[in-house]
Amino acid sequence: MAIPISARFGDNVTTRSDRTPWYTGPILIEHLETVEVGDDLKSRPFRMSVQWVNRPNLDFRGFSGTIASGSVRPGDSVVAATSGRRSTVKRVVTMDGDLSEAHAGEAVTLTLADEIDLSRGDVIAAADARPEVTDQFAAHVVWMSDAPLFPGRPYLIKLGTKTVTGSVTEIKHKVDVNTFEHLAAKELHLNEVGFCNLSLSAPIAFDPYEVNRETGSFIVIDRLTNATVAAGMISFGLRRATNIHLQAIDTGKVARAALKGQHPAILWFTGLSGSGKSTIANLVEKRLHAMGRHTYVLDGDNVRHGLNRDLGFTDADRVENIRRVAETAKLFVDAGLIVLVSFISPFRAERRMARDLVEDGEFVEVFVDTPIEICRQRDPKGLYAKAEAGQIKNFTGIDSPYEAPEQAEIHLMTSQAPAEMAAERVVDYLREHRLID
Ligand code: ADX
Repeated sequence: MAIPISARFGDNVTTRSDRTPWYTGPILIEHLETVEVGDDLKSRPFRMSVQWVNRPNLDFRGFSGTIASGSVRPGDSVVAATSGRRSTVKRVVTMDGDLSEAHAGEAVTLTLADEIDLSRGDVIAAADARPEVTDQFAAHVVWMSDAPLFPGRPYLIKLGTKTVTGSVTEIKHKVDVNTFEHLAAKELHLNEVGFCNLSLSAPIAFDPYEVNRETGSFIVIDRLTNATVAAGMISFGLRRATNIHLQAIDTGKVARAALKGQHPAILWFTGLSGSGKSTIANLVEKRLHAMGRHTYVLDGDNVRHGLNRDLGFTDADRVENIRRVAETAKLFVDAGLIVLVSFISPFRAERRMARDLVEDGEFVEVFVDTPIEICRQRDPKGLYAKAEAGQIKNFTGIDSPYEAPEQAEIHLMTSQAPAEMAAERVVDYLREHRLID
């Protein structure tokens, strides 16, 4: 039985009457819900997303979940969708005993004839009608959050019982829900529908939404608030990524760092424009350099002249700015360096993303906490004056937000101590945490 998207994902999607009393055609969501998807999920190939592995004793190993589509009988050939390992269904077990057949919508535990590797989130599927497996796909995304969707920002993507991190790599277009017209977009706002490419941290098994609503739909969850921010319907897998394999490199991070006699790390300076980030980062680098440490500084103003010269100061561009610099910093860490990153980096989500790119202990967030009144007075580049005069748009702290860190490793109150002392505190921290000796 198919459940309408609006019932599954909350019904705060725009209704026709909200916007256009004169329009009587279907809105996209209604259209998608009534697209011809065949008789019923029961007639679709068998799919079950494993909810948990049931192993009460060594003799019994069952895979429990709700059948998403199709039916299953003892003796059926099945496959673990992502690994491709095959087996045969031995028993279909329920609370009321074994069944000779079970159908879409029923909760069952399957035992298999072979010991194949399966865990929560894996899909068991009919061996002769497998789902596709991909880590990149194109999908319609219905955005349901007040905070907009920015390409490049990581979210949790939940499909069936599997949750992986992922991001929208590109909004191909947004759909005018009244006319179905395609419009160019860099962001998606509340109730907007976009056709997007998504990239995931791990492959998932899926069917196109048109073929199977259960295995073709997903939700998007904000990693910081845990709120569901979008619903998605997969159109097709993108195969581009499947031909690019990570190249194994024999000389690793540890070897490179050992040669330099140091532990690599990212010192991530965040704070308002004019807060003193670059001044302090520069002093820290000078001290580390004098101690024979191998360092590099990535500074917003400089990187925006090269790698990121195509980016401005909209929220979407800042997200991409930080995504690129975080990836670059990760490469420097891999090279064995202590890299000092000095960017306003106003959003928690991207700072968290940067933190997650490296190992525990390698990311040191330094909050350069200078009240905006002081930044305004200092105004080293005359930018606050321009922003207040309306000559610069989206200026951080004036008409663009700054989300202060909640748990930075180092909190520098620059109004209370000179930059030299702040730099000394950073170096002390590195010593105390044995990042340098
Ligand atoms: S971030 O927000 O995307 O992290 P980043 O650190 O790269 O910003 O760049 C900030 C620098 O760009 C500031 O130090 C300032 O010199 C300059 N700048 C120009 N326009 C703006 C603006 N609208 N908001 C903030 N900084 C700006």
